[in-house]
Amino acid sequence: MQTPSGHPVESTSAKRLVVLASGGGSNLAALLAAHDDAAYGARVVGVVTDNPAAGALDLAHDAGVASVVVSPKDFHDRSAWNDGISEAVAVFLPDYVVLAGFMRILAPSFVRRYEGRLVNTHPALLPSFPGAHGVRDALAHGVKVTGCTVHLVDEGVDTGPIIAQSAVPVLDGDDEGMLHERIKIAERALLVETVGRIAREGLYVAGRQVTIG
Ligand code: GAR
Repeated sequence: MQTPSGHPVESTSAKRLVVLASGGGSNLAALLAAHDDAAYGARVVGVVTDNPAAGALDLAHDAGVASVVVSPKDFHDRSAWNDGISEAVAVFLPDYVVLAGFMRILAPSFVRRYEGRLVNTHPALLPSFPGAHGVRDALAHGVKVTGCTVHLVDEGVDTGPIIAQSAVPVLDGDDEGMLHERIKIAERALLVETVGRIAREGLYVAGRQVTIG
């Protein structure tokens, strides 16, 4: 969409994304790059992190997107932290919540609040190698092909219905860092494409079967 002077304007129908990230934020950066195109259909309206040192905060700042730190250190227990992060996300009125390198487990109450609208990206081909070390575990197992998975979040750890996957070969001599960097190239493309399609076309879930559009 463009103004008469040729400048793009924000589509009023763009879906509102809140991105949760704990680390460097390269997946967030990819979403922020995509959302500048009004035709993308989704816009990052808020970034929430558990980590005051997350690179995601700088990325949000540079993109003019509001960000919030909800650190467990500032709460007396896990339940209070979970309520804090749930409220921090809710303030942005998200259509979808995207976990892009968010390294903490969210409580069932959070998952239920955003059921069907909570999307995670994981650096392995689920259901193989769930958890915090998907790349390391795949390498240790000796698989020849791994990859990344975009999936809906349920109350388990990386067990929710799969939306999209992309395969990445393991090369001789790969270490965890090398393999993860190659996976992240595929992951950024998959996440951007999948989230955009969900925003534009909708997501239909029947048990474990997920269809976009
Ligand atoms: C990504 O590879 C993401 O899949 C992974 O952390 C990385 C974050 O990269 N998440 C998990 O392992 C969650 N279990 P980024 O900070 O550069 O986006």
